[in-house]
Amino acid sequence: MAKTKNFVCKTCASTYTKWSGKCDSCGEWNTISEEIPFSSGPPSKSLGAKRGSPIALFDLATEEDPPKRTRSGSGELNRVLGGGLVPSSAVLVGGDPGIGKSTLLLQAAASFARAGLKTIYVSGEEASAQVRMRARRLGIQEAPVKLAAETNLRDILTTLEIEKPDLAIIDSIQTMWSDNVDSAPGSVSQVRAACHELTTFAKRKGMAVILVGHVTKDGQIAGPRVVEHMVDTVLYFEGERGHQFRILRAVKNRYGPTDEIGVFEMTGKGLAEVKNPSALFMGDRENPAPGSVVFSGIEGTRPMLVELQALVAPSPHSQARRTVVGWDGSRLAMILAVLESRCGVPFTGLDVYLNVAGGLRVSEPAADLAVAAALLSAREDHSLPSDTVVFGEISLSGALRPVGQTENRLKEAEKLGFSSAIMPSGGKKLDQTGMKISTVSDLTTFVKDVFGD
Ligand code: TYD
Ligand code: MG
Repeated sequence: MAKTKNFVCKTCASTYTKWSGKCDSCGEWNTISEEIPFSSGPPSKSLGAKRGSPIALFDLATEEDPPKRTRSGSGELNRVLGGGLVPSSAVLVGGDPGIGKSTLLLQAAASFARAGLKTIYVSGEEASAQVRMRARRLGIQEAPVKLAAETNLRDILTTLEIEKPDLAIIDSIQTMWSDNVDSAPGSVSQVRAACHELTTFAKRKGMAVILVGHVTKDGQIAGPRVVEHMVDTVLYFEGERGHQFRILRAVKNRYGPTDEIGVFEMTGKGLAEVKNPSALFMGDRENPAPGSVVFSGIEGTRPMLVELQALVAPSPHSQARRTVVGWDGSRLAMILAVLESRCGVPFTGLDVYLNVAGGLRVSEPAADLAVAAALLSAREDHSLPSDTVVFGEISLSGALRPVGQTENRLKEAEKLGFSSAIMPSGGKKLDQTGMKISTVSDLTTFVKDVFGD
């Protein structure tokens, strides 16, 4: 059979028939290389008996409906998984190198093992002695977890075949290599092959598998993106360098909601759960500075209060700066444009900085009004009352649109000691009594009511 050439981008896994310097799909340079397709490797002999032969329906490990989940000792992890780990499921945990994936998963291994799952932790990056040292530091050395330091996929599958665990954790997918594939570990073909073999093995044997994947921007090794479609659940572990807390975010989940987050704090003894994240993402509320506004947001199913901080200053440059951390830059531009053309509040010649305190990323449009409030407060040098939360979506016409889960937002604010809220009118009637609620229908009225003199 004539071999067709196959060129693959290491970052986004787009395929090409010829080499080129730049990937047209993701725009990265020098990420395209020739890959031998996975299917062209010689057939494996060691697991040959069952290869290619169909399995009878009744031979499959029976699945309960709805699946019986195992809950770990970590409430935050259970929440992100959609209520616990589903048997035979494949979970991918991606994140930047050094963010704490190995720490999280070693703790999860101990937690699931204590919850009754037979667990094996396969490390391709560290020797077993190093993993044990880490476990001692995390105070989980007594947990009934088995360790293996392996990178050869065939050896790993053989080990799993003998051990028959309920859960296997593979750290990381980029270090695994299959001798069926002719390219280097970490290449797109290897990562795909390893993921494919492990997930199919897991489904066949009724074992859950958690794969760790490094996300890299430089395209040196294939990112977890290329295997997202092969797994049931994709979690991203994120955090800002310099901040101690970490967020585990579900971006895909066949067995639960997405956009759910779990909040952890990196301590000297590993990751600790943060049960009340609202308190973490707010600064000192005693004397709020101009430009600081509290937004009552929703992350997944959970309300979360966050402090938005804005700074507006005369620009020394010919082109004024717009700098935003933790929010969408184009959304900021839109709000500035609405303030300028609908409410007559110009920002020309002014540098604008917007920051979400604590390093959290906010993606809800419901934050629009709080952003506008922070910008106006900074521009007018006029602080909002410290007991007030703000939320609402702004449309291009300057009208304010009601947002979902109003009641949850207000409840969370009340729980944390806030006593008033500014929100769009027109939402559903609320029987909330504790909070003083001011409703506004459009941004011009808001500007007049709050900042007019
Ligand atoms: P690690 O889990 O090795 O990251 P990854 O697997 O994502 O590459 O974590 C690395 C960082 O975590 C490292 O910089 C040190 C820090 N850390 C702590 O602060 N406390 C701890 O208890 C542990 C184990 C790690
Ligand atoms: Mg690691």
